[in-house]
Amino acid sequence: MGTTHFGFKTVDESAKAGQVRGVFDSVANRYDLMNDLMSLGLHRAWKAYTVAVAEVKVGERVLDLAGGTGDLARSFSRHAGPSGIVVHTDINQAMLARGRDRLTDEGVLLPTLLCDAESLPFATGSFTLVSVAFGLRNMTHKEQALSEMNRVLKPGGRLLVLEFSKVTKSLEKFYDWYSFKVLPKVGQWVASDAASYRYLAESIRMHPDQAQVKSMLHSAGFGHVDVHNLSGGIVALHVGVKC
Ligand SMILES: C[S@@+](CC[C@H](N)C(=O)[O-])C[C@H]1O[C@@H](n2cnc3c(N)ncnc32)[C@H](O)[C@@H]1O
Repeated sequence: MGTTHFGFKTVDESAKAGQVRGVFDSVANRYDLMNDLMSLGLHRAWKAYTVAVAEVKVGERVLDLAGGTGDLARSFSRHAGPSGIVVHTDINQAMLARGRDRLTDEGVLLPTLLCDAESLPFATGSFTLVSVAFGLRNMTHKEQALSEMNRVLKPGGRLLVLEFSKVTKSLEKFYDWYSFKVLPKVGQWVASDAASYRYLAESIRMHPDQAQVKSMLHSAGFGHVDVHNLSGGIVALHVGVKC
């Protein structure tokens, strides 16, 4: 068994998923509020951009992985309509239940499934679009997860990976100050949990940059990959086509 990163710490591969589960168990109740506070609402724009790029058509079959509280799944379901299907999934029960309750309260009823993106319980070629927003960073075996995403897509299907990425040089100083000084304090004040928000900042720094993620998508079988840099590289949207 090899080692991997949990934030800046080196841990056994077998330990990472449990530690990530601990983070999301702890933040699930305050996840949406903290998302708005920490990103100053920007996560809504990044997700809206992703939905616009996805161009989900009526009748499409969509799989949202690491879907958490359901922002993307909800938007996709409006486009896919009653003849389409959008499956809302996550590995974490607390996050998924929070998302399912929230969507149900809004009258959006979607198939909801607890599952690990590294080992998907779907047949090959089941979907026309797979999405993963702010989830890849937390996975232990990213290459395995990407290859599973490729497997469950039909030929010509698209994968959308929205994730924190490498900021431009001019933003670095401010972004480091904000991530390591401000975020853990906001996490402590609002959610009584500085450690989870320190993990957030550290895991972003350890995640492969735009070019590396692009090359990982190619290796996983995506013949064509586009990269959209958003907000100076704070976030990047990778769009891979299975061809
Ligand atoms: C930062 S949240 C993102 C939630 C949502 N996609 C959003 O953008 O608001 C990351 C999610 O990834 C999930 N996750 C982590 N590892 C996973 C895995 N191996 N398979 C599926 N989901 C995973 C976590 O449980 C958590 O809900």
